[in-house]
Amino acid sequence: LLAASLAGACSSTPMTPTPSPASPPPPFDPKRGYQRREVSAGGRTVVVRAWEGLAYVSRPVEPAWQVMNLYIPEAYFQGGQIDGRTARTAPIFLPNSIGGYMPAKPGTPEGRNGPPPAPGQTPLPSAIAVALTRGLVVASPGARGRTLQAADGTWTGKAPAAIIDLKAAVRFLRHHDAVMPGNTARIISNGTSAGGALSALLGASGNSPDHEEALRALGAAPARDDIFAVSAYCPITNLENADAAYEWQFGHAHDYRRIEMSMLDYQMQRREVAGTLTADQIALADALKASFPAYLNTLDLRDAAGRPLRLDAGGHGSFREHVKSLVIASAQQALDAGADLSSRRWLRIASGRVVDLDFDAYGLAATRMKLPPAFDGVALDTGENQLFGSSRLDKRHFTAFSMQHSRVVGAQQADERTVRMMNPMHYIGRSAATVAPHWRIRHGTMDRDTSLAVPVMLGTLLAQHGIDVDLALPWDRPHSGDYDLDALFAWIDRVTA
Ligand code: DHB
Repeated sequence: LLAASLAGACSSTPMTPTPSPASPPPPFDPKRGYQRREVSAGGRTVVVRAWEGLAYVSRPVEPAWQVMNLYIPEAYFQGGQIDGRTARTAPIFLPNSIGGYMPAKPGTPEGRNGPPPAPGQTPLPSAIAVALTRGLVVASPGARGRTLQAADGTWTGKAPAAIIDLKAAVRFLRHHDAVMPGNTARIISNGTSAGGALSALLGASGNSPDHEEALRALGAAPARDDIFAVSAYCPITNLENADAAYEWQFGHAHDYRRIEMSMLDYQMQRREVAGTLTADQIALADALKASFPAYLNTLDLRDAAGRPLRLDAGGHGSFREHVKSLVIASAQQALDAGADLSSRRWLRIASGRVVDLDFDAYGLAATRMKLPPAFDGVALDTGENQLFGSSRLDKRHFTAFSMQHSRVVGAQQADERTVRMMNPMHYIGRSAATVAPHWRIRHGTMDRDTSLAVPVMLGTLLAQHGIDVDLALPWDRPHSGDYDLDALFAWIDRVTA
C-alpha cells in the first residue's frame, strides 16, 4: 500500500495491492515536480531545478527518511555548460548529512552539517551550494538511523539500514540516467564522521552481493551501486576494531574529556565532561591495547614503497612510525604556513623542520575522549551499540571482547554478517565488490572520536590495492568536515578531468 500510494503521488504507475518483487522503482520526471531556485556561493549564482523529498525506493520502511533532494542546474536542460561541464559530463555530488549514525534528512544548499558558527562568525558555505555553482549535479540522500522505531515498537534503522539506503539512492540515479542530467559514471560520495564512514562504505562495497537482498526488499531500482569517488572526513569506521585502535593511541591516557552527544533539530550537539578512568576501565584499556597489533598485522599493510607496516606486541613498529610521519607532515605544513608550534612540546623542531613526534605525549595532549571500550560499550551505552541493535532489540554488542566483558545481563551480540556489512575494510581487495577508484580521506590531528589508525589503515589498504588515495591529517582540526571546500572541489576537478 505504501509503495502504491507513494508511486501514485508522482505518476500514473498502476496500483498494486501487495508489494511484489516486481513492483516498479520510483519514477522520476525531469519536467515535473521541481521548484526553480537560485543558489549562491563564493560570489557565483546558479539557477537550479530542485526536487526535494524524492522517494528513492518503492517499498520504504521509513518513507519520511528514505528520500533524497536532487538539484540540477537549469543550464543542463537548455544545452548549456557550467565550468566546461554539460548535462552529459557533470559529476554527481552525493553528500549525506548522517551524524552519529542517527537518521538523516537530505541536505539542502542552505543547510550545513555540524554546530552553528560561533556568534560573530560567518557560517562556512554549504558544500551543496558550492558544488552547484561549480556545475555539479547534487543528490543528497536521507537515510534511516539507529533511533527509528515503528508504531508497533519494531526498530527500523539498525545496521545495515543506512548503507542500504545510500546504495538505493545510487541505484535510483543510475536507473534514471537517460532522462537525468549528470554523469552516473562520476558519482562522488561525501560525508563526515558516521557520514564519512558510510561514504567510505558506499565506495568500498559497490554492487556487493551481501547488500542485495535488503535492497530488493525495499524495491530499490535495478541498477549498479558502485561509485566513482569517495570524500570521507573523519570516518568513524572499522567499528569492530576501533576499540583496540583507540587504546593503541590513547591507552596510556587515563584522564579524559568525554563528550555527551545529543540531537537537536537533526544536528549532533556535543558537551564536554572531564574525568579519570577507574581501575576497571584501565584494565579494559590495557587488554584492548594489547589486542591491536595482532589485528593490524593481519592486514599485511605496506607503505608506498612496499615496506611492511607492522606492530610489535607493545604497539611499536613501522605502522606507528608511519602514523607519526603523517602527523609530522601535517605539522610541517602548518609550520611552513607560519604557525607557531613552540608550545607543542611533543614535537621536536630543528631549523624549521619537524624532525620527531612523541606519540604518547601527543595522545595525552589531544586528550582521550572515549572511555574503554570506546565503541562497543560494556554497558551497551554507546551510539554504536544502538546502531547494532536488531528489529527487536535496541542495543547489542558487536565484538567478542565486549560481549565477554558485558555488564548487561542477557546482552546479545550482533551477527557477524551485519557487522561485516558495515565495515569497508572487508570489501577492499577481498570480495566481489567494486571499489571506487578515487578517495580523499581527511582526519584532523586533534580529532579524538576515533584513533588515527582507523583512517590510516583504510587509506593504506586502498592504496595497496591500486586505488588512488589522497589521505591527510589536517593540522589541529578537531572532529569536523567540509572545512576545506576549495581543496575538496579542486580534487574533484582533478579526478573527474
Ligand atoms: C559520530 C561521532 C562519534 O564519536 C561516533 O562514535 C559516531 C559518530 C559522528 O559525529 O557522526
